[in-house]
Formats: sequence, structure tokens, C-alpha cells
Amino acid sequence: MRVRTAVIPCAGKGTRFQPITRTVPKELLPIVAKPALQLVVEECAGAGIDHVVLVSSHAKPAIAAFALDVTEHMPGMRMSVAYQDEPLGLGHAVGCARAAVGDEPFAVLLPDELMGDSSLLAQMIDVCERTGGSVVGLKQVPREEVPAYGVIDPSGEMNADGVVAVRTMVEKPSLAEAPSDLIIIGRYVLTNDVFDLIDQVQPGAKGEIQLTDALRVQAASGPFHGVLSRIQRHDTGNPLGWLTAVVDIALDDPTLSAPFESWLRERLAP
Ligand code: UTP
Repeated sequence: MRVRTAVIPCAGKGTRFQPITRTVPKELLPIVAKPALQLVVEECAGAGIDHVVLVSSHAKPAIAAFALDVTEHMPGMRMSVAYQDEPLGLGHAVGCARAAVGDEPFAVLLPDELMGDSSLLAQMIDVCERTGGSVVGLKQVPREEVPAYGVIDPSGEMNADGVVAVRTMVEKPSLAEAPSDLIIIGRYVLTNDVFDLIDQVQPGAKGEIQLTDALRVQAASGPFHGVLSRIQRHDTGNPLGWLTAVVDIALDDPTLSAPFESWLRERLAP
């Protein structure tokens, strides 16, 4: 079955970006002249997605206004908004999109991770359509960084295209217990049975319903793969990552790069 819908969770509180997130959602912070969320919707379009479901909260009306703006300015992209008024975790946020998604497999993109292009998502969609199982995006990190992330336990060798079968995954393992150096990044392509599994997930210590708990059940019972990302990626979920993304993208912008670089050189000169 073709993957045509993407869910983008946008209902979090954005505490690491206060005070701006008291009035402007983190997902709409500007990357030069575009909201970060727009870059993520463009990534979806480039991978053949034509329906995006934004999971928002009524405390963030600017997200629904953004959806309307995309409808007006991006022909061929259908936008839906689903609501999660309490940020009860990523699994819960995805579960809130169920009615809007319907019965098909779908992608999930975390909007505080920006990818250089649509190639990873397109490859993940292809693997999902060929294998009939869910797929997660992966990044290889230095071993000592692994305990901060969700980590996969591969069940075989990675092929030349960066695709690897996944046995299971562990959230924030100790260094000694980490099954690999492959962490799960904010890109997923999921089969529709994940919704029933999310309904069965027990809330964790902070009352949060984690997506990984549902994915672990999927991995134990059918095909489940990871795809290694080889593209530029920015984590804009914290101020330093956001700033790095803005500078990097400005340096690639044909109208900004020359004057910006010359200012930057002068600013950094000893
Ligand atoms: P984050 O954990 O990075 O976002 O979730 P946050 O909670 O808003 O940030 P901090 O930790 O308070 O600074 C990644 C994405 O998932 C969404 C967030 O809006 C963000 O885009 N999210 C997270 C939800 O939609 N619902 C949730 O319950 C949790």
C-alpha cells in the first residue's frame, strides 16, 4: 500500500525555547524566512506525500493558521489538524492523528529535526512499501553518545543502501548495555497497526505514552527495518542547534551567502 500521509507532532510545550514559545510555537521558529515546519512539509512533498496531519494543541493556534497558509500556497498538499491538548508523549500525539490518517501506512516526522532533502524519507517509504513493515530513520553516533538516545538492536548486517533489519530497540541504554551505535532519529514510516499498539501502551513514569514501546511490539512480531541517514541533519530542538541550522542554511542561500560570509569573517577575525 502506498504511503501518502505524514503526521507531524507539534503539540509539545517547547520548554527549552522559553520565553519565545509562550507566544510563538517552536515548530514555527524562522529558518531565515521560512518557518521550520515549512521545511518539514516540503521534505514530505519531495517524498511523494500529499496529505499532512499536524498534531497541535488549542494553546498553539498559529499551527492551524500555518496549515491554512500551506493549503493556499502549496498546490496539491492537503492539510489536516488533529488536537492533543495535553502533551502526553510522542506515542499519544501520533495516536491523536488516527482518524485523520485512516487505514493506510503513514510517515511521522519530528519537526525539530531538519533534513537536507527528501531522500531519506523517500527511501524509508520505499522500504516500508516493499517489506510491509515499519521503518525508522537511523544515525550512527560515537559510542559514548548512545546513552542519550533510543538505540536499535540490529538482527543482521546493514546492506550497501544503509538498510538493516531491527530485532528490537532500547530507550537510553547504559553504555555497557547499548546494543549498537545506531540511534533512532525523528523520521518513521509506520504500518497502521501501530495505532492499536499505542492504545495498549502503559504510561511511563512521567505519564507519557512513548512511541518506542509500540514500535518494540511491532519489531518483535514482523518485518521492521532501519535506514541509515547519510544526509545533513540539524537538531533544532534547542537554541544552539537552531542557531547552527540558521547559519548553515544562510551560508547555502545564493542571495545571502556572500554578504553573510563576509560579515561573519570580519566578526570572527582576531
Ligand atoms: P520534543 O520533546 O522535542 O518537544 O518533541 P517539546 O516537548 O515541545 O520540547 P521541550 O522538551 O519542552 O523543550 C518533539 C516533537 O514532538 C512534539 C513536539 O511539539 C515536538 O515538535 N510533541 C512532543 C507532541 O506533539 N506531543 C507530545 O506529547 C510530545
